Amino acid sequence: MNEQEFIPKKYSGLIPAGTTTWRAPSNIALVKYWGKFPDQIPANPSISFTLSKSATTTSVSYEPKKQNSDGTSFTLLFEGKPKEEFRPKITTFLGRISRYLPFLNEVHLKIDTSNTFPHSSGIASSASGMAALALCLMDIEKGLVPSMEPEFLMRKASFLARLGSGSACRSISGPIVEWGMHKDLPESTDLAGIPYNGKVHQVFQDYQDTILLVHKGEKTVSSTAGHDLMNKHPFANRRFEQAHDNLSGLIGVFETGDLERFIQIVESEALTLHAMMMTSLPYYLLMKPQTLSVIQKIWAYREQTSVPLCFTLDAGANVHLLYPLQYREKVLQFIKNELIAYCENGQYICDQLGEGSKKV
Ligand code: DP6
Repeated sequence: MNEQEFIPKKYSGLIPAGTTTWRAPSNIALVKYWGKFPDQIPANPSISFTLSKSATTTSVSYEPKKQNSDGTSFTLLFEGKPKEEFRPKITTFLGRISRYLPFLNEVHLKIDTSNTFPHSSGIASSASGMAALALCLMDIEKGLVPSMEPEFLMRKASFLARLGSGSACRSISGPIVEWGMHKDLPESTDLAGIPYNGKVHQVFQDYQDTILLVHKGEKTVSSTAGHDLMNKHPFANRRFEQAHDNLSGLIGVFETGDLERFIQIVESEALTLHAMMMTSLPYYLLMKPQTLSVIQKIWAYREQTSVPLCFTLDAGANVHLLYPLQYREKVLQFIKNELIAYCENGQYICDQLGEGSKKV
């Protein structure tokens, strides 16, 4: 893959008016993307489970610009209301990708977006949000280039989504997506997420992710700022190597279904991510006391019951509980008995692996 293939030749027809709607899911990384170089190039490869229910649905209506102004032009509704806070990120995104979608300078867009997960639940919506928007824009381009193959549309959508938010490039397809060059995956690239096409043991089919909403407030340090702190981080290079090793390890685990090793890699990745935050300068903490209590309860439960339940974390205090479908009832009972007390307003979200984005 190279970026040149995403720069289109001149469009032949005139730009029509229309509307397109896409639903893109959130994803949870098993090997974490943490650290990046200019142009959203990841410092290490990452791999994630695509979720099913936690998703963003975005409609984009488009029409030729009425005034002959420079640059991109859009209005934005979030859950039916104007949302000024989101404008700068989208303005930057559209500016960055107009080189690959030149029609953006000639249209006015009306973007209408909403999430299935509760507002300010602490679940990052940038991955699903940027993925859904990228897909809508690709659908508009497909109208201008009718010969476009569906596979190219998805590949370029992932390439574009990455420029909005790195992890968003892993929200286009499913159920497992890899992003970033890795020696064991010849098709891997830093430019986009690719659906993982190695062997996957059936224990991972319909794998469950129950997300405990431990803390729903805004993060004190954004992911973008956190990535930046990896630039001068004393442990950065060793960490990037470790991500490569953990990804090799997971490739083996996917094939054999070795859940003990799966748990070891996934929990180590989660704690390493937070260890990187704690050892950055300035250092910071995104875990809350409840996060630690939940982790300790999970370890005790696993010891007592041998249920292969493990946790992972993203850049926040919420805890993702990962486990095979066959343990669903047991784990949900455990959550009700012991973990719900640590969730803000007793809230949690039951999700599972999903197939990726869909046109609505
Ligand atoms: C901890 O993709 O949100 O969730 O590229 O700056 O938008 P930007 O960062 P973002 O970082 C996500 C980091 C993570 C780990 C992961 O999803 O791999």
